[in-house]
Amino acid sequence: MPALVLLGAQWGDEGKGKATDLLGGSVDYVVRYQGGNNAGHTVVVGDQKYALHLLPSGILSPECTPVIGNGVVVDPAVLLSELSGLNERGVDTSKLLLSGNAHLITPYHTTVDKVTERFLGSRKIGTTGRGIGPTYADKINRVGIRVQDLYDESILTQKVEAALDFKNQILAKLYNRRAISPAAIVEEMLTYAEQIKPFVADTTLILNNAIDDGKVVLFEGGQGTLLDVDHGTYPFVTSSNPTAGGACTGTGVGPTKINRVIGILKAYTTRVGAGPFPTELFDKDGEALRTIGGERGVTTGRDRRCGWFDAVIARYATRVNGLTDFFLTKLDVLTGWEQIPVCVAYEIDGKRVEELPYSQSDFHHAKPVYEMLPGWSEDISKAKTFSDLPKNAQAYVKALEEMSGAPISAIGVGPGRTETIEINSFLS
Ligand code: GDP
Ligand code: IMO
Ligand code: MG
Repeated sequence: MPALVLLGAQWGDEGKGKATDLLGGSVDYVVRYQGGNNAGHTVVVGDQKYALHLLPSGILSPECTPVIGNGVVVDPAVLLSELSGLNERGVDTSKLLLSGNAHLITPYHTTVDKVTERFLGSRKIGTTGRGIGPTYADKINRVGIRVQDLYDESILTQKVEAALDFKNQILAKLYNRRAISPAAIVEEMLTYAEQIKPFVADTTLILNNAIDDGKVVLFEGGQGTLLDVDHGTYPFVTSSNPTAGGACTGTGVGPTKINRVIGILKAYTTRVGAGPFPTELFDKDGEALRTIGGERGVTTGRDRRCGWFDAVIARYATRVNGLTDFFLTKLDVLTGWEQIPVCVAYEIDGKRVEELPYSQSDFHHAKPVYEMLPGWSEDISKAKTFSDLPKNAQAYVKALEEMSGAPISAIGVGPGRTETIEINSFLS
């Protein structure tokens, strides 16, 4: 099993960090392929809790080489502070590899992110304010700054000047902000250059060679399928491709080398930021999911919007990612409900619809059609095998599996590494 992708099947925060960390000890490389420090991945190891934003969750497994691929956008200040935070806690980060082709988030990208959101007012996306969208926009506009540019001062200066030429006009004339000095940006970026240099590598070559040598490579997605810029709830999305294809473009590894695609799926649904969310709850059940599930953003500290499980979305994730398996997380959070509603289809303008509508307006009008499944009250956090689960919890998992279109190969029953029921090995 040389290469597998692990990604979010909903709107992010499904528990990708925990799932990656669980496999980390058995894989040789864990690779981030898109996004940046908009991600917030929580990993609980024993009594230690880690919040990772930019670094791959595999960094916590000493055997594993963590890699930041070309598709990631990297804020060098955040990278260095995340590394030193881990070093202070005794984590060895020296094996990290960083693609020289990854694009850099600079202070002007975070400024543009924040002023654009303010300008949009009630139409805002609710971004994390980390400069993600503006950095990807510059990449596509061919005015981005790459990690490798840090090692040629004259090129770096030319590129920063070119990027700011236009942006400063907008900042000053449209947003009424002070222009940003290219020289100050270059100076700041150069302070990071030497510190980052030991990690910079031709990651595409290294990863392809590793796969050819039979090493196990795990691609870890940030965000989730419905936040994908092509396949998500556009424009309420992030600016990259968390879906499976992103693992190829974001690392330079071809699709024929990837054997398995695992969708991380929460037993209910959450979303942060603006945008449609058919099963969202505004009542005491939503509040209970938020409280019991600890649904508060790791990156921004915002409360997550909460709702029941949506099988239409799970089926869609199976389709657009070619999922081979699901990892169902946070089943323990649903303990205590007498009945658990599950959205099996939508009603749109009086018609029942089984698949996610491609029209944004239809999706905004979608009303969930619920089926009620019987709940359970027993504590499931100590369950080690599927048969340890109460019958109704087993039936809930089986029903979700049937509706979602791929086997559920693992179940999370708590935040810790060991609080997992493994049904089929991901690595066989
Ligand atoms: P990510 O962004 O997909 O990595 O997910 P987050 O870390 O943002 O949010 C998931 C939260 O759920 C974290 O606090 C995890 O520690 C926690 N978590 C993960 N799996 C489980 C589980 O099976 N049960 C419970 N109770 N918590 C879990
Ligand atoms: P992980 O990896 C949940 C959301 C933001 C906003 C939209 C665009 O922890 O699952 P951006 O800053 O990316 O331009 O914001 O995407 N968003 C996330 N929501 N989990 C995440 O990451 C997210 N990363 C971005 O809230 O709605
Ligand atoms: Mg998260």
